[in-house]
Amino acid sequence: MAEPPRILLIVTGGIAAYKSLDLVRRLRERGARVRSILTRGGSEMVTPLSLAALSGEKVYQELFSLTDESEMGHIRLARDADVVVVAPATADFLARMATGLADDLATTVLLATTAPVLVAPAMNVQMWAHPATRRNVARLRSDGIRFVDPGSGDLACGEEGPGRMAEPIDIVGAIETVLAQPKPLHNVRALVTSGPTFEPIDPVRYFGNRSSGKQGHAIAAALARRGAEVTLVTGPSAQPPPPVATLTEVETAEEMLAACRQALPTDIAVCAAAVADWKVKAVRTQKLSRCDGPPPRYEMEENPDILAQLAQAAAGRPRLVVGFAAETGDVVDRARAKRERKQCDWIVANDVSGASDVFGGDANTVHLITPEAAETWPRLSKDEVADRLAERIADALAEPADAR
Ligand code: CTP
Repeated sequence: MAEPPRILLIVTGGIAAYKSLDLVRRLRERGARVRSILTRGGSEMVTPLSLAALSGEKVYQELFSLTDESEMGHIRLARDADVVVVAPATADFLARMATGLADDLATTVLLATTAPVLVAPAMNVQMWAHPATRRNVARLRSDGIRFVDPGSGDLACGEEGPGRMAEPIDIVGAIETVLAQPKPLHNVRALVTSGPTFEPIDPVRYFGNRSSGKQGHAIAAALARRGAEVTLVTGPSAQPPPPVATLTEVETAEEMLAACRQALPTDIAVCAAAVADWKVKAVRTQKLSRCDGPPPRYEMEENPDILAQLAQAAAGRPRLVVGFAAETGDVVDRARAKRERKQCDWIVANDVSGASDVFGGDANTVHLITPEAAETWPRLSKDEVADRLAERIADALAEPADAR
């Protein structure tokens, strides 16, 4: 028999909290397991006892409760959920989520979870329309949070308009839609590298490159959406971190290699980072000043090739190792040669010729080079490239090893 879906319900301090009791009842009727977190505001609206009675589970309230931490730490609470639902979500709670606060159990769990998050806002019509709330909702949507938008009608405050929490039956429908999404990479561990590396020259200067981390971060997110347990090892990047199981921030190629080794064994490795090929041989401990003499010359030495090392690992080689190649000229031939040289399974070759805006831009024209074929994909957004690659990876892992 299939395991019952595990729902973590966060009830915050809106008057609509009474409807959450009905939501719990309906979810239980459908065979779901419902754990709940009641915020301080939420407990002004419904009692922990009513939630516990309807859910048949303990209700969690405090971040630092010794009993909770010994029975079930907040990280496990975050992990042991197939979907996290915030209903009702007040304007204040949305603002705290959008800022990434972690000052109570509910916000901490939301930062720690890799499960999809569904939010059902409930507030006064003016508060819902306020530019600050609009901004917070837009930011949360771009972070991948899903919304069941409030309905219109008479509000508890006496006003009329949008702000009323969606009906429990509609929230149940939205939860079922989220749960129905296939997770072909469930139980698969993935390592993704992303961003540039910075190679120090002296305490303030470094050699770097223009990689934004957009493509690598999008791949990590696309794999995680399909259920993979992702470790993202990233160089310095302004991209918001995607919801992955483990995020390791590094600066240099050596640090990136060490973090990748630590992440092994994994089933998949996708090396999307723009790793510096060289580093300065003797990094100065003192900042060089213009008065110190003529312009400096730097002796460089090679950095480790992380992709090649992962692909050629004698023990613990991931089943599928995917590299990237930024090429001009005969893109496919060069990428084919690179695939063989590095001994990775696939190469995603970026065409960076001409007026390409690959570095820092949102779109990418790529070729997927496998041992059998070279496919040219149409010009796609980096998110679309990530989704397509994640689909292909899921298909490849579903095949027997000798068919790849
Ligand atoms: N890579 C790596 N470690 C390095 C250098 C590159 O893991 N020290 C990985 C990148 O993440 C990418 C692929 O190798 O997956 C790119 O290969 P690379 O040989 O660096 O190619 P380019 O930089 O595209 O070009 P070149 O052919 O000039 O080396």
